[in-house]
Amino acid sequence: MPEKSVTTVPVPLGDRSYEILVGRGLLEGAGARIAALGARAAAIVTDEHVGPLYAETLVEALRRQGLRTVVITLPPGEATKSYASLEQVCDAVLEAKIERGDLVVALGGGVMGDLAGFAAAVVRRGVRFVQVPTSLLAQVDSSVGGKTGINSRHGKNLVGAFHQPSLVLADTALLDTLPLREMRAGYAEVVKYGLIDDARFFDWCETNWRGVFSGESERDEAVAQSCRAKAAVVVRDEREDGDRALLNLGHTFGHALERITRYDSTRLVHGEGVAIGLCLAFRFSVTLGLCPAADAERVEAHLSAAGLPTRLNHVPGGCGTVDELLDAMAQDKKVKGGALTFILARGIGQSFIAHDIAVESVRSFLEGENSTSQP
Ligand code: GLY
Repeated sequence: MPEKSVTTVPVPLGDRSYEILVGRGLLEGAGARIAALGARAAAIVTDEHVGPLYAETLVEALRRQGLRTVVITLPPGEATKSYASLEQVCDAVLEAKIERGDLVVALGGGVMGDLAGFAAAVVRRGVRFVQVPTSLLAQVDSSVGGKTGINSRHGKNLVGAFHQPSLVLADTALLDTLPLREMRAGYAEVVKYGLIDDARFFDWCETNWRGVFSGESERDEAVAQSCRAKAAVVVRDEREDGDRALLNLGHTFGHALERITRYDSTRLVHGEGVAIGLCLAFRFSVTLGLCPAADAERVEAHLSAAGLPTRLNHVPGGCGTVDELLDAMAQDKKVKGGALTFILARGIGQSFIAHDIAVESVRSFLEGENSTSQP
């Protein structure tokens, strides 16, 4: 598909600056843009679902520009973010004689981006990499901001590095074949940006979300605006010493639900956990007297209209007891003297980092949720 209009979102990070390009048809024209980075060879890291759909187009685009290519294909799914896969990718990159001036290209969703990015961060003490995200979640979140890594037996993303990509190519036409459930899950992260600090963007989502799903120009607008929002936070706080934690709105509850459902994607995928987590963060803020109830209701109504789960009892197979939820949260968060850090909201677009939230107030909130959310 030929390129249509392309939006450029700059990520100004000094000598680690790069551009995110958003538009339909970017994959076919990727060769010239990647070649402009000055590499002579590229190792494309992809998975068994995405590779057969798009790797050949990317290989051809790069070959036309005279780049030597190798394709490294791994199984899809979270289990691939492992030490074993990291070793496999690093060895394949070395085997392909990818030098310091060359590139690793991540072609896939968040798993491929995190794994390939981490391999790029460590192989030969760091080679440049390009993100070509193929899921909505990866286009609006994981491909931007330089977090890379794998999972350890101690938890998700616990081994990794900050390694910014040199370029992100978000071809929104690639989402045409994305399963609806994954589209919805990525959309929860889009809505999150409005809820953090941009009430007008949330209004826009309420009006335009159908176009995002159907692939009209609203999809490009939503991806570009999400990337702008994320880039602004990352530029303020690249290594999450402060404000970047705002991007975790909805994630404390969401991660706990993922942990309780044992990362079983037949029950819950990350974005669904985030959707429930966003609703819980807003309702918790209401309970604490911080946020108008009408705002929490609007958040729930919108996510629900887009087909996302919004309540604890929407988790297939249940979400455990309140104690189990609290335990799962404690593994994610530092509990200091019985207090937790949460991202809360004074209203739509008015989120903030709240330290010192008493575990007991989370407990009584969840007890209320559990009793109000029984079918
Ligand atoms: N996904 C959260 C972050 O990149 O900081």
